[in-house]
Amino acid sequence: MTQTRRRVLVAGATGYVGRHIIARLHEENFLVRAVVRDMKRATRPGRFGAPALDGLVDEWVLAPDGLDDVRDTTMDGVDHVISTLGVTRQKADPWDIDFLVNLRYLELAEQARVSSFLYVGVMNAARGTSAVSRAKHAFMTALTRSPVPAQIVNPSGYFSDLTEIYDLARRGVALGLGDGDVVLTPIHGADLADFCVTRLDAGRGTWDVGGPEALTYRDIVLRAFAAAGRKPRYMSVPRPVATAAVWTADRISPRTGSLTRFFLEGMETDSVGSLYGTHTLSEYFASLSR
Ligand SMILES: NC(=O)c1ccc[n+]([C@@H]2O[C@H](COP(=O)([O-])OP(=O)(O)OC[C@H]3O[C@@H](n4cnc5c(N)ncnc54)[C@H](OP(=O)(O)O)[C@@H]3O)[C@@H](O)[C@H]2O)c1
Repeated sequence: MTQTRRRVLVAGATGYVGRHIIARLHEENFLVRAVVRDMKRATRPGRFGAPALDGLVDEWVLAPDGLDDVRDTTMDGVDHVISTLGVTRQKADPWDIDFLVNLRYLELAEQARVSSFLYVGVMNAARGTSAVSRAKHAFMTALTRSPVPAQIVNPSGYFSDLTEIYDLARRGVALGLGDGDVVLTPIHGADLADFCVTRLDAGRGTWDVGGPEALTYRDIVLRAFAAAGRKPRYMSVPRPVATAAVWTADRISPRTGSLTRFFLEGMETDSVGSLYGTHTLSEYFASLSR
């Protein structure tokens, strides 16, 4: 007897995590509906080794303008929703995307009575003061109050974002806040994708998740220097300098201020999830050096 393939709508499909999630869903024989802004970009490989979506997606929804293009029919026949949609490097107000567009998906998911809505958020969002943290926290609150079974996956940090530390190490010096003793559990996109896809039948829940190793910021820097083949040089940025950087960034633009806060708060708050996955950071840094 042939089993009906379950349909999963993925928002944030062209992002680092979204691409890995789609690859995993495809492997598991789910029917994948991907919402993208740009088909050409979607079918090319993503940044930081994330896969091209060519051949992995069954149904495309083109939404070049975000919110305006998310139509009532977007959710037709959908069993599960996964959203990794959020502003990282894009020029947009996180409130408009992380909160409002995700809320639009949630409204449609409620109307369509989907079986679950999985959202990739961020750890410590409730405590963060950046626009990104506030928008994410507001959406997570709306999601947990929804009649749709809510699944919230909070990662600590991605290998993709640590690429910048490797780039600094290659140039011979890495910067960090204080002693660099904050503890993180960074995770590879493929491991996070596996974690998310295995949640689909897990019912409601909130999970703080990380990669297979808990590392201090200093450990991460040392791994980056080792992969770059350079002598480690860690430059500690004193707290008053960081405070001055936030003050300056706030006056450049709200976006610059928010990104600076998000970055600095991430460097001074432990962000430790349950250890998961098999990809190590040293292997990832080594792959960058090839
Ligand atoms: N990086 C970290 O260490 C970290 C840690 C924890 C949580 N997170 C969160 O995890 C989520 C996924 O991260 P990621 O690295 O996969 O991010 P990403 O690569 O930037 O992907 C974000 C997705 O959101 C879409 N998006 C962003 N701005 C948009 C806009 N203005 N209009 C329409 N679509 C927009 C992007 O579309 P385009 O591809 O078309 O731009 C992309 O599909 C984000 O919410 C991020 O904040 C990140």
